[in-house]
Amino acid sequence: MRQEDARVNEEDLIGPRGGYVKSYGCQMNAYDSSRIAGLLEGAGYSAREDAGDAEVIVLNTCHIREKASDKVFSELGQIRRLKDERAARGQRTIVGVAGCVAQAEGAEILRREAAVDFVVGPQSYHRLPEALRNADAGERTLLVNFETEEKFQDLKRRPAFSPTRISAFVTVQEGCDKFCSFCVVPYTRGAEISRAAHDIVAEAEELARNGTRDISLLGQNVNAYLWNGPDREWTLAGLFERLSQIPGLRRLRYTTSHPCDMRDDLIVAHRELPKVMPYLHLPVQSGSDTILQAMNRKHTARDYIAMIERVRAARPDIAISSDFIVGFPGETEADFQSTLRLVREVGFASAFSFKYSPRPGTPSADWSEHVPEEIKKRRLQALQELLEAQRQSFNAACIGRKLDVLFEKSGRHPGQIVGRTPYMQSVQVDAPESLIGQNREVLIERLGSNSLFGRMSDQPEGA
Ligand code: 5AD
Ligand code: SF4
Repeated sequence: MRQEDARVNEEDLIGPRGGYVKSYGCQMNAYDSSRIAGLLEGAGYSAREDAGDAEVIVLNTCHIREKASDKVFSELGQIRRLKDERAARGQRTIVGVAGCVAQAEGAEILRREAAVDFVVGPQSYHRLPEALRNADAGERTLLVNFETEEKFQDLKRRPAFSPTRISAFVTVQEGCDKFCSFCVVPYTRGAEISRAAHDIVAEAEELARNGTRDISLLGQNVNAYLWNGPDREWTLAGLFERLSQIPGLRRLRYTTSHPCDMRDDLIVAHRELPKVMPYLHLPVQSGSDTILQAMNRKHTARDYIAMIERVRAARPDIAISSDFIVGFPGETEADFQSTLRLVREVGFASAFSFKYSPRPGTPSADWSEHVPEEIKKRRLQALQELLEAQRQSFNAACIGRKLDVLFEKSGRHPGQIVGRTPYMQSVQVDAPESLIGQNREVLIERLGSNSLFGRMSDQPEGA
């Protein structure tokens, strides 16, 4: 599980009261953590590096894989001790739990953990100030309702999230209607809802004015984006067409998608719109039709392969990425071999793969025929070896090529800056920081373990 801390502007002046947000899970959660930090800031709690220095601690939890709620309770045990220590020094601490575990197990969290002052699900972050006021008054708060109208209003107000000034995430869609039998998202994030196109465009224009060059459109099922405007219907491709006209924006991406929602106009956008990057994250989960059906994926392995062929016909160099689950209930050795076959047939530039973990409340959690842990482990290892070899060969094929690199930040060593290729690879180059925010052609010279190394192609060797 990816894990990171989100804090509002670190260079902000340290205010009298501090807020600390610990974030688990996906990109959407990292984005939400930055919003929570922003709401704390608005309520007078400036960002702290350390939970021990904070008057408000919020855990932004993820429920998608593994024993998420166990982890949350053990983390809360530590926070309770911290709260007690601070109380002994006469300092108050407000503790909140946000994210998908909050949504799924809110009442249970309040019942089991007395240190928790509020629980707020992803649909209700706009009500965080109210929860903080209640906590100040000594009251506990549970906010886990699906309030569609309010959620829509909230989606309208969403500010962008910029991990670097150069690249930013803009939420365009939330929720999922697919109900894959292993997945908690439809239960914790609710039904699909798309944000108004004019709000997205206005936000992208604002970002571009402030120096952002690369925007990723974010949604749990982003290619299902559909918004009925007063004059026309907007799809993701329509958004890309409009965003392509914004001066200053050079790159557009999107994540994450479902194979059944890959519309023709989106495939055409990959061919026709140069700012839409040749990178597609399209989860397949398994290569076995029996398993895909049990997963309620609504497509076969052939459908997926045919879709990739169509995308590649539109944009031959496109880098394909995916998600996989091994050890889904009932997965036989033959099913797993079908997954390996699909991987060999498609050829992935990158991928995420996971052992199946039953999520309470999802249909597959109650099925018998669970695959033993040892077998899951072995399958995951075999799959990851194959995917890693494919990633390496995709990267190796870039050596000697001149790629367009958008520089985003300074590198680890002085004199080095880091950028990304159109295929999402990170590239380190010796070049001045003044190039951050600009694109240059870079000759790729060698591979590191996680990034490529290159030199400006107008720079002679050894310079
Ligand atoms: N077990 C394992 N992996 C899961 N994912 C979602 N739910 C589960 C689960 N119960 C994976 C899927 C999805 C990614 C975000 O997380 O591969 O695409
Ligand atoms: Fe979960 Fe499936 Fe929806 Fe993806 S498409 S969020 S895996 S239910």
